[in-house]
Amino acid sequence: MLDLKESLSAIHSTFMDQLNLVSSSSEAENLRVRFLGKKGELTAVLRGMSSLTPEERPVVGQLANDVREAMETSLSEAMLVIIEKEKAARLNEQKIDITLPPVTGELGSRHPLYKVIDEICGIFLGLGYTIAEGPEIEYDEYAFERLRLPKGHPARDTQDTFYISENILLRPQTSPVQVRVMEKSKPPIKIVCPGKVYRADTLDSTHSPIFHQIEGLVVDYKVTMGDLIGSLQLFCKKLFGEDTKIRLRPHHFPFTEPSCEVDISCWGCGGKGCRICKSEGWIEVLGAGMVHPEVLSGCGIDPEIYSGFAFGIGVERTAMGRFGIDDIRLLYENDVRFLRQFR
Ligand code: DAH
Repeated sequence: MLDLKESLSAIHSTFMDQLNLVSSSSEAENLRVRFLGKKGELTAVLRGMSSLTPEERPVVGQLANDVREAMETSLSEAMLVIIEKEKAARLNEQKIDITLPPVTGELGSRHPLYKVIDEICGIFLGLGYTIAEGPEIEYDEYAFERLRLPKGHPARDTQDTFYISENILLRPQTSPVQVRVMEKSKPPIKIVCPGKVYRADTLDSTHSPIFHQIEGLVVDYKVTMGDLIGSLQLFCKKLFGEDTKIRLRPHHFPFTEPSCEVDISCWGCGGKGCRICKSEGWIEVLGAGMVHPEVLSGCGIDPEIYSGFAFGIGVERTAMGRFGIDDIRLLYENDVRFLRQFR
């Protein structure tokens, strides 16, 4: 019995010595298995109890239980400290240095075409216009017929586009939005509509089968050509600079009467003639006119009461002028070396 008692206290003190050396939770677990596990040292000692007398057994049994309990308590106390230490070490390792510069991807920027669209729409919003939208896949009826371009009309040739079926096509101009807006709302109407248009043009340095326009429409009582000229003058000064002059040349558009093309004094030479304006002194920027009475009445607006003006601005041409871009294809190739210049 004395042997057993000594063994128990030897195990206890060895255990405590070892426990003092333990520095991680896995080492502590190993220690537990070694001393307190089923095949552990304590169990091995208890096996020797069979040689004890019935009087001795409960005494040694009690002692063994006390030793086990003491070891378990010491172990779990040590565990608590170790786990805390390990957590602190983990957090320390994961510390984020917020003074380091962030690792970000390269920031993109607005495409030059959309910069120009934003700028132009911004000017008209400032003049009290609102933005309207229309579908890019359009009915022939809206794209042509109701703009007074019946089937077989020669003016269709320059705009003939991609047909999806006999009566559905990719819109060749933003002008159909005029009809869509007028048939749905009553004057006063003051809208601009930016968007993509499609034409069966071969891609070269000045043509693209997909390009952008901004349509404008104003319908109200007694809107005159003077209002159109004044509005466009104001717009061109804001977009191209205060010294910009405009010039109207008579033209024909089936949906406006009278119609004109609008040139601005060249931004390169101010009108003297240079390479940019091909020595003309003027650069064409948009088409415009007074909304044809038949277009108005076709949308349920009485031309005896109301009148209006409309205009269509070519976005690519404007962007190329603004930024000095000499090939329209650069605008679609998405070469970042080109796009980076418009940050
Ligand atoms: N839609 C015409 C084109 O694509 C441009 C245009 C001219 C629009 C006169 C208009 C306008 O609204 O009044 O060539």
